[in-house]
Amino acid sequence: MAYENIQYEKRDGIAYLTFQRPKVLNALNRKTVEELADALRDAREDDSVRVLILTGAGEKSFVAGADINELAQQTPVDGKEFSLFGQAVFRQLETLGKPSIAAINGYALGGGCELALACSIRIASRTARLGQPEVKLGIIPGYGGSQRLARLCGKGVAHELILTGEAISAEEALRIGLVNHVVEPADLMPTAEAIAKKIMANAPLAVKFAMEAIEHGLEMPQEEGLFLEATLFGLCCATEDMREGTRAFLEKRPAQFRGR
Ligand code: COA
Repeated sequence: MAYENIQYEKRDGIAYLTFQRPKVLNALNRKTVEELADALRDAREDDSVRVLILTGAGEKSFVAGADINELAQQTPVDGKEFSLFGQAVFRQLETLGKPSIAAINGYALGGGCELALACSIRIASRTARLGQPEVKLGIIPGYGGSQRLARLCGKGVAHELILTGEAISAEEALRIGLVNHVVEPADLMPTAEAIAKKIMANAPLAVKFAMEAIEHGLEMPQEEGLFLEATLFGLCCATEDMREGTRAFLEKRPAQFRGR
């Protein structure tokens, strides 16, 4: 698939996914979400891809939400379909088995904030602004924001952000746990890449199973989550990488992981 609205590049184990619709501050229309889905399929299947970094083209915006030109035309049936489709693609990102880092370079509003919420880790530029302004348009978050924001930052924060629709600064996002780090704009990509490299130094299957334990365990009673953790821990013990990782430690040398 040739992409019009995203740039998709792979370099040194990292897949870079850049949203690029400058006239609308990188807003997500249906085609953009379809392109995202296609790129995610590729990233999932390509063993050379270990981490994804998502960002927005230009200095002003990460993603300024769903495309309001398209939204304005929607019937109730279209609206439900639009929401289910976006939710499915963001879920694909969340459950890719490979970590994703949102490098939030500017506005992350509505669907843009929801996209960042579906990533594993969020780094914000000091100039970023984040929010869920849907109620200002007479709608509610439709790409998982009402669910993921409450799970990540708590019910009170989700209520305030979603009901006021007001955007917050990167520093405030850091304070409430919506982003992991705030950095100067020039440090955004190097910081995301440094975190990606730390992850890539580790055993790929262990990273994948740890993500599964966190992702699925969080939705279970703790007793069942612990059982899932123990099962995945046991599965790690069947990998070549577990033998290599433990042996390398005991032999005082760096481990050579192969993802097996
Ligand atoms: N969908 C479609 N177009 C959008 C858009 C969106 N989500 N967000 C921005 N744009 C367009 C604007 O209409 C404008 O187009 P124009 O140049 O043809 O007038 C262009 O992008 C630049 O935006 P503008 O509003 O002029 O920039 P600004 O710096 O004054 O404000 C924002 C930036 C992000 C605060 C403002 O654009 C905004 O509030 N956007 C909508 C955010 C939103 O509600 N998202 C959730 C949708 S569910």
